[in-house]
Amino acid sequence: MIEINVNGARHEVDAAPDTPLLWVIRENLGLTGTKYGCGIAQCGACTVHLNGRPVRSCVTPLTAAAGAEITTIEGLARDGELHPVQQAWIDHQVPQCGYCQSGQIMSAVALLAENPRPDDAAINAAMNGNICRCGMYGRIRKAIKSVAGVQTFDPAAAAAAGAAVTEVRHG
Ligand code: FES
Ligand code: FES
Repeated sequence: MIEINVNGARHEVDAAPDTPLLWVIRENLGLTGTKYGCGIAQCGACTVHLNGRPVRSCVTPLTAAAGAEITTIEGLARDGELHPVQQAWIDHQVPQCGYCQSGQIMSAVALLAENPRPDDAAINAAMNGNICRCGMYGRIRKAIKSVAGVQTFDPAAAAAAGAAVTEVRHG
């Protein structure tokens, strides 16, 4: 048995130590939001977070995940609220077929956690390994930038938001 921690829950997994984490997530835990694309770390469809860093779960052995904090696409929402990146994906209508999108979102969330206001070069560098056969790269970049705008502290925007809240409360 190998113990892993996924989306804040501990699981005892009965699988060979070299079993790819992707298989464990999908087959043992039933979390099918993480997708199998290439199986050789070339497409990014299987991206999850290992201690906050994006990894390709198709080439991550189960033993490498033991004791680490793993987050999958199912673990991003909190208390019924979508993660801001998930909401931005909806707002900007990013997905087409959708197959690559959980991996895209996991990479974007990791990027924004490390760099709250990435420029085009930083976005390209972080998202380079996530392939989208539907070619939605422009919308992906736009959605990431929209989140970067709300996640970065902007005194003018904060003041405006505060004023708006005050108006609502007293209106
Ligand atoms: S399935 Fe893991 S990178 Fe393609
Ligand atoms: S939305 Fe179809 S592969 Fe990306």
